[in-house]
Amino acid sequence: MKRLRLVVLVSGRGTNLRSLLDASSAGEMLADVALVLSNRPDAPALALATERGVEARAIPSAGLAREAHEALLCDAIDAHASDYIVLAGYMRIFTPAFIRRYAHRILNIHPALLPAFPGLDAQAQAHAGGVRIAGCTVHFVTEDVDAGPILMQAAVALPVLATPEMVRERILEAEHRIYPASIHLLATGRARLEAGRVVYRDVAAPSPTVLVSPEVEP
Ligand code: GRF
Repeated sequence: MKRLRLVVLVSGRGTNLRSLLDASSAGEMLADVALVLSNRPDAPALALATERGVEARAIPSAGLAREAHEALLCDAIDAHASDYIVLAGYMRIFTPAFIRRYAHRILNIHPALLPAFPGLDAQAQAHAGGVRIAGCTVHFVTEDVDAGPILMQAAVALPVLATPEMVRERILEAEHRIYPASIHLLATGRARLEAGRVVYRDVAAPSPTVLVSPEVEP
């Protein structure tokens, strides 16, 4: 089995990037981060990558047409012969041409149990909606925003008095668990995309079977 090569795209703080780097060096994810790209030069995620000895580059999007910015991204991505483009808090929407160029090779993590709460600030949407179970989704990126084939999901039970901050934290903890795990599934051939759906083999049964919130005491 060969280790996958990843290009990770970021715009912000980079806690998901950290979870990928940690899982890679701990041997829990059969993949290496070959390059980190950010559209924002001040993204803390870039500094984190450099600290960890990973090549990191800012390709600022400000002032550029979407196509011109993507052309620069493509040059950098193609120079690294990567297997997957991994979006980790990358705050831009791609053109259909970009998505077609890397068809079936772009992954994203969304902080909600899709198809619930697509779009911006999913955690605030979940909090405002009063959900008792929240979660996150790793999916393939298609031209429909936050709607590509689902690879992995994790659910978290929320306390009844959860603050928006608590909702964010609980979901983030789950994100850090399933992003590296999803990539490991792909790397080990236990998940693959087939006719627009993810098919699996040799995966363990999910646990716990039923998540209830709030719990009701007798
Ligand atoms: C995460 O909540 C992720 O789900 C969303 O953007 C956030 C990125 O956080 N797409 P970080 O930069 O990885 O800490």
